[in-house]
Amino acid sequence: MWHNILLVILLLVLFCVRDVRKPAFFPPGPGWLPLVGCGYHVYKLVKSHSFYHLLWADLVRRFGPVVGLKLGRDRVVIVSGAVAIREFYSKEELNGRPDGFFFRVRSFNKRLGIVFTDGEDWDVQRRFSIKTLKALGMGKAGMAFNVEKEAEELIHHLRKLARKRNHIAMHNAFDISVLNVIWTLIAGKRFHLDDKRLEWITSTIHKSFRVIDMSGGLLNQFPCIRHAFPTASGYAPLVNLLSPLWDFLKDSIQVLNKKPKVIDTEDCLISSYLRELQKDSLHSSFSNKQLLCLCLDLFQAGSETTSNTLGFGIAYMLHHPSVVEKIHQELDKVVGRYRLPLLDDRRHLPYTEAVVCEIQRIANVAPLAIAHRALQPVQLGTYVIPKNAIAMVSLYSLHMDRSYWGDPECFRPERFLNETGDKLIQHENFLPFGSGKRRCLGESLAKSNLFLFFAAFMHAFIVEPAIEGKLPELEGIDGITLSPKPYHVKLRERLI
Ligand code: HEM
Ligand SMILES: *[C@@H]1O[C@H](CO)[C@@H](O)[C@H](O)[C@H]1NC(C)=O
Repeated sequence: MWHNILLVILLLVLFCVRDVRKPAFFPPGPGWLPLVGCGYHVYKLVKSHSFYHLLWADLVRRFGPVVGLKLGRDRVVIVSGAVAIREFYSKEELNGRPDGFFFRVRSFNKRLGIVFTDGEDWDVQRRFSIKTLKALGMGKAGMAFNVEKEAEELIHHLRKLARKRNHIAMHNAFDISVLNVIWTLIAGKRFHLDDKRLEWITSTIHKSFRVIDMSGGLLNQFPCIRHAFPTASGYAPLVNLLSPLWDFLKDSIQVLNKKPKVIDTEDCLISSYLRELQKDSLHSSFSNKQLLCLCLDLFQAGSETTSNTLGFGIAYMLHHPSVVEKIHQELDKVVGRYRLPLLDDRRHLPYTEAVVCEIQRIANVAPLAIAHRALQPVQLGTYVIPKNAIAMVSLYSLHMDRSYWGDPECFRPERFLNETGDKLIQHENFLPFGSGKRRCLGESLAKSNLFLFFAAFMHAFIVEPAIEGKLPELEGIDGITLSPKPYHVKLRERLI
């Protein structure tokens, strides 16, 4: 009897000692407790900072640019600052993505799609998507017409609304238009801006970004808790949000699959993929489920980031009337009042483009990019990141680096222009789309969307707070991405 108890105690002690021992050359960070690691420490910091990226900034001040933690069973490394981040992005071994129950809920308990996969399947599917999107005109003139038409529809829609109402929701005003541009590439069609189903889908996408916790949370560590606590574990809310998205995408794929196989002018990613599935020399990673997850990835990664940036952008404009004045001057000089701006005008509108860059820099819609995973033990600086550790890059730390920008908390578009103000400057500390092999694959599309929707909106309207003197808050809502807090505006048309 006594023997058994002693043995259990001994085993427990051994387990605890092993569990709190850090691997050799692990980056510095808070101490580890058995089982929870730094969980409690981080939990306390979350309470006092309210935003994850601010919490990491606090740890960087204490431990340096590479911080090591243990959250539950996962080893997590957070990398900040230009030097360490440049090294991070140059390491092939850090190009994995986290795995586990939580990440597989999105893809039928498998690793599918692009965003949360790695290895050969990821490579094949990413290449296919980029090739196909390029062939469909992404980043080329063919795309311009699509984006311009969407911007025109949006302005038309907002003009009608502005005549009826003094109180227009602005934080999500660009949602459907942004999704339409992506949906035209994926499925070859667009939605009416009053479409109720779409409004519901976009709000579902927004919500799914708030539920998801980048590290996967407790559910990823202990998947079985979903049976005991379906709601509290986050499982039921996640599935409830995902299933309408799955259904919507499934329906859309089915419709295109039934269409007679003629090469029509309205070609799209889904049709290309379905054609690929017919080929004999098919790579084993191609499947119907893979297609569904690919669409879900592009749908989620592409729409949320872009519309949040635009939502923040207009909020910043309300705070900075002198910037608005300069944009209007530039637009009047280059475009005139008789037509809307086009994508081709972009190279003649450096100030407006600098404003878009400054919005991306200061709003930090993806403050921690998307989590990576070490595929092999890998050296970073003088530290070693162990295999399977989750590794995150703080893009926020680059964009808010005082030693680089001088006055990072200031909204100052001029920092992106040369002295005479007629040429855009590239900054090495400006990486809103990440870098390396995992960099955003929709960057050129995102840039066209951001620029044209923003320029067209500014061209068409004078925007004021819905309640006089009440400016929107600039602090966002935390999640995988930062999103603007809901706010309302009054729109007046700029007349000819
Ligand atoms: C303002 C708009 C956008 C921002 C700020 C943004 C930012 C990012 C960032 C920071 C990453 C992660 C890089 C890393 O892992 O280090 C990423 C990945 C990704 N983005 Fe974007 N993105 C935007 C728009 C888009 C659009 C329009 C699309 C698609 C049409 C898209 C598709 C993707 C995909 C598929 C990935 C995952 C790539 C991979 O894991 O290989 N994004 N994006
Ligand atoms: C800024 O760039 C423009 C266009 O390249 C050039 O004409 C101008 O001289 C530049 N100004 C300065 C101060 O370098």
